[in-house]
Amino acid sequence: MSTSPLEPVSHRPVAAAAVPGSGGATPATLASEYEVTASAGAATKLRPVREIGPTGRPRPKLRDPKPLSEHGPAVVLALCNQKGGVGKTTTTINLGAALTEFGRRVLLVDFDPQGALSVGLGVNPMELDQTIYNALMERSVTADDILIKTGAGMDLLPSNIDLSAAEVQLVGEVAREQTLQRVLAPVLGDYDVVLIDCQPSLGLLTINALTAADGVIIPLECEYFSLRGVALLIQTIEKVSERLNPQLELEGILATMYDGRTLHGREVLARVVQAFGDKVFHTVIKRTVRFPETTVAGEPITSYASSSVGAAAYRDLAREVVARCLAE
Ligand SMILES: Nc1ncnc2c1ncn2[C@@H]1O[C@H](COP(=O)(O)OP(=O)(O)OP(=O)(O)O)[C@@H](O)[C@H]1O
Ligand SMILES: [Mg+2]
Repeated sequence: MSTSPLEPVSHRPVAAAAVPGSGGATPATLASEYEVTASAGAATKLRPVREIGPTGRPRPKLRDPKPLSEHGPAVVLALCNQKGGVGKTTTTINLGAALTEFGRRVLLVDFDPQGALSVGLGVNPMELDQTIYNALMERSVTADDILIKTGAGMDLLPSNIDLSAAEVQLVGEVAREQTLQRVLAPVLGDYDVVLIDCQPSLGLLTINALTAADGVIIPLECEYFSLRGVALLIQTIEKVSERLNPQLELEGILATMYDGRTLHGREVLARVVQAFGDKVFHTVIKRTVRFPETTVAGEPITSYASSSVGAAAYRDLAREVVARCLAE
């Protein structure tokens, strides 16, 4: 990645994001996104050809991904943001579950010592003898040795508090940044997508996740301080891309915990689109109590509340992710 997504758009006039459908678009793209509904004497009226989504841009028609006849090798995506509680784990579980519904083989990697991803899939991490920590630190332990088949149809490499020691212990290792990549390499052929749930930090574990990944998805909470720290995150992604993993791409920014009824929520989302333009997914995850409920239930929203707005949103996100970066 050569330039920061913050740079090309930072000089855009604020008004650009307020124009429905513009998102900083050029007149040519605007013309193709609107149709004339009245002219000849009357004032010309423009109607958007496509429905305007919450990001202020016309929503693309998202179709279901085609079924795959062959599986693998996997595209590895890291869910990353050093800010805590922005929806990384929730997105890992529910994007994974929606991709599973679309016939993709999904491996989830719990890369946070809190073990919230494991808990969210009904696994008690404290009862596990071996976790991702052992696969990272012991050459004799493979990903297959620690792999758990969850009820949600996805496979999981679990984690627990042991992983916090790896951050310190890995420092002395040769090729310390490539440790997770080495663990994942033998199983990539078995999956279509691997989602890594990162912990809220930019330490060595997160660098390992970025080194193992093809792409990064940044969940961003729609609240005032959400953009703080994102520049540092983007810089970190760029450094990893330059020094360790040239194929790493920022795949998208996902607006989470959105409340479209408040002016504040709408303003924050407009600022995010203003800053990141087309990197922002059209799908926006609304704030709803259904998500905390799913954690207690230990299952994805796509099965816990299959016809809910939240489940539909993560299915839309899965359609977008497939269109952006997965094989069809
Ligand atoms: N769209 C949403 N609406 C309401 N609550 C949500 C939403 N998404 C996530 N939550 C809740 O917010 C809390 C934080 O979400 P989550 O654990 O996914 O964030 P995180 O970024 O993984 O946090 P951490 O940085 O601690 O790992 C959880 O209780 C979760 O259930
Ligand atoms: Mg988390």
